[in-house]
Amino acid sequence: MKPILEVNGLSKRFKAHQALKGISFAVYPGEILCFLGPNGAGKSTTIHILSTALQADAGEIRFRGTPVAQETNGLKRSIGIVPQDLAIYEEISAEQNVRFFASLYGLKGKELQERTEEALAFVGLSDRKDDKPKTFSGGMKRRLNIACAIAHQPEVIIMDEPTVGIDPQSRNHILDSIRQLREQGATILYTTHYMEEVEEISTRIIIIDHGEIIASGTKEELKDRLAGEKLYEIVVDRTEGLNPDELYGISGVKQVRAVDNLLRIMTVSGIDNLDQIIVHLMQSGIKIQHLTSSAASLESVFLQITGRKLRD
Ligand SMILES: Nc1ncnc2c1ncn2[C@@H]1O[C@H](COP(=O)(O)OP(=O)(O)OP(=O)(O)O)[C@@H](O)[C@H]1O
Ligand SMILES: [Mg+2]
Repeated sequence: MKPILEVNGLSKRFKAHQALKGISFAVYPGEILCFLGPNGAGKSTTIHILSTALQADAGEIRFRGTPVAQETNGLKRSIGIVPQDLAIYEEISAEQNVRFFASLYGLKGKELQERTEEALAFVGLSDRKDDKPKTFSGGMKRRLNIACAIAHQPEVIIMDEPTVGIDPQSRNHILDSIRQLREQGATILYTTHYMEEVEEISTRIIIIDHGEIIASGTKEELKDRLAGEKLYEIVVDRTEGLNPDELYGISGVKQVRAVDNLLRIMTVSGIDNLDQIIVHLMQSGIKIQHLTSSAASLESVFLQITGRKLRD
């Protein structure tokens, strides 16, 4: 599959501070690509450059293969940006806000009105459309910020930490909306420093720190590759008659613990040995009642590659 957006060697320096150190990545159609990184990692700088609000010192961005420097208009219409700092007008109604932004993207007349109403309904603000954002909660403002960016139905939606500091209900609403936008065919680039959100919505992850990409992959790949260990938790009818030595004989098995009817087997990830473990249990006359396989958490992955916790 061809990428919808390609970023090559993007660099940005603010005085003495090198905020981006030549990052490269691609965004593929239909994915929810999560850009995960702590404060100051360079997430917003990347997005400001993608939105053309900021100029890079070096690097190239291609949209559907064409350098964006050559087709800014097409790009504007195709991308919707939800900025980290709210970009809404407090003194005009929610509806007027959405109409204003959608009209900047060239919508007018009946289409403008329909898309505005759709966007407001989508973020759950139809009943507050005539109210001014200054009367809204933080979560409602965030949702309006999103409506303003998606009313023109862009192919790519870029969101910069849209759930920071809001109530759980608005947060869930936003995460659901993102999944829905993807189902409707949009491609999403989503920045966050919340692991739980990445766990919940990402189809792929890029971890960025100090202006560099330090890891990327699906959450399963990241956990598998970086943690190097996997845990099988197997509930069995009994553990008597089990010979741990034979389990240790299976390739990849590092540790076997039995507590009551729960068997915990730590194994090297990347080695397919579950079949052999199951066969061994069956041959010992032990019945499996439940089995789960879990990789290390994203938090531990981050800790391992950076030596720090994400929220330090
Ligand atoms: N306009 C600016 N002038 C000077 N330094 C800047 C500017 N914008 C960003 N920086 C610096 O560049 C680095 C990256 O900032 P950026 O805003 O991209 O981080 P971020 O990953 O979005 O962080 P956060 O999670 O806090 O939003 C930081 O060290 C920041 O202080
Ligand atoms: Mg930021």
